[in-house]
Amino acid sequence: MEDAIVLYPSPGRGHLISMVEFGKLILKHQPSFSITILILSDPNTNTNSTAPNYVASSTTQYIATVNSTTPSITFQHLPPISEIPRNTASPVELSFLIPRLNNPNLHQTLKTISQTSKLRAFIMDFFCDAAFEVATNLDIPTYYFFTSGASGLALFLYMPTLHKNVDKSFEDLGNMLFDIPGTPPIPASDMPGGISDRTTQRYEYFLNTATHMAKSNGIFVNTFDLLEKKAIKAISDGLCVPDGLTPPIFCIGPLISSSIQDGDEHECLKWLNSQPSRSVVFLSFGSMGLFSAKQLREMAVGLENSGQRFLWVVRNPPPDNEKEPNLEEFLPKGFLERIKDKGFVVKQWAPQVEVLSHESVGGFVTHCGWNSVLEAINVGVPMVAWPLYAEQRLNRVFLVEEMKVALGLKEMEDGLVSAEELEKRVRELFESEVGKEVRERVLGFRDEAMVAQKEGGSSHVALAKLAQLWKQT
Ligand SMILES: *[C@@H]1O[C@H](CO)[C@@H](O)[C@H](O)[C@H]1NC(C)=O
Repeated sequence: MEDAIVLYPSPGRGHLISMVEFGKLILKHQPSFSITILILSDPNTNTNSTAPNYVASSTTQYIATVNSTTPSITFQHLPPISEIPRNTASPVELSFLIPRLNNPNLHQTLKTISQTSKLRAFIMDFFCDAAFEVATNLDIPTYYFFTSGASGLALFLYMPTLHKNVDKSFEDLGNMLFDIPGTPPIPASDMPGGISDRTTQRYEYFLNTATHMAKSNGIFVNTFDLLEKKAIKAISDGLCVPDGLTPPIFCIGPLISSSIQDGDEHECLKWLNSQPSRSVVFLSFGSMGLFSAKQLREMAVGLENSGQRFLWVVRNPPPDNEKEPNLEEFLPKGFLERIKDKGFVVKQWAPQVEVLSHESVGGFVTHCGWNSVLEAINVGVPMVAWPLYAEQRLNRVFLVEEMKVALGLKEMEDGLVSAEELEKRVRELFESEVGKEVRERVLGFRDEAMVAQKEGGSSHVALAKLAQLWKQT
């Protein structure tokens, strides 16, 4: 019988793409395996639409390309769920709920695959936690794929302990600091939004997931040993699951996927070609990062006053965020004309991996989504951390205080980042001694990332050993 692995990603871009890239990596180690990737219909939008690349959930084009270029990977769509309870308020809850409602389909699918193949591993996103029960009941070795870093994982695994020791919601604890093994102290206000209120359903989903994860056969993390030494050691030493066993963790990153582009070089890459080496700061905030018109104006003023060269991806403010922005409508009067020798504004979307690896780019103002962070580290671009949602505030703490590869932006009480603050940080990155140190740190990690992925490097060895084990048992 053929050796098979089933991957079960959450349908959002950032989750799905890194898991598919992981599937491709497994095949490099074991080309004889067949990989099935289960695709959930995204309830938030129609996954079958041919929406452009920057739309949060559009992965259609990406899936079609991998499907046609990698024959050992099969995509299997699970049927859409027709009965979604109307009172499910938050997208995070839906992300947990949809897989739950799919459990009967999943059960059937796994049984069918088991009839013709030897199922070596079932690997799921943490949002697909409901599948834990299904896969373990079928005695399939069950793993989690964690789409953020090891420091985030340290907190996640420690969550049941925090739940026992703290009797209030994080959102009611202001800046109280929490000691998590392997991480710097974390202020309550920087805890991920999903776990900030312990009375919610989503908090319970996260808590249960953390408990299951600790009982799984292992956890894959998109990171590499030297980037997060302390967190990885704390987890491996069992400190994050003090009253139980810790499963093995496999740091297999950084997994990077370059954007798929056909045809001509993007206009912003052409512009970068004419800029001096390492001189441009790139501002981009992920497929879900949106700003009000007021915030966009502050950013424009800050960038102009910084005197630095910049490449800025601007999206229309919500609720019409999928519409092409009319820049004159909300940027300061005359801005585009004044900055035309130094700045370049891209509407909606830019090929981020290509931009970051361009020789002219010397800094990155980022929302701290983990994939973006890795993309920058992989090519040695220092960051300014401007977190927006999910676990991004947590990532800012790690990037600024632990890895020291970013400068932290400070937002005001109401969440707004002032023009002065942006100007100051961008200048600091390019003009100060602190900026220089951050630059040198990230270049060091870039070299380490390269080593980690080569034959004999830590990420390569972690996966090679496991693939060998799957083959034998
Ligand atoms: C993948 O490719 C096969 C043919 O090579 C096709 O039948 C199938 O519909 C494709 N699946 C997806 C999800 O694109």
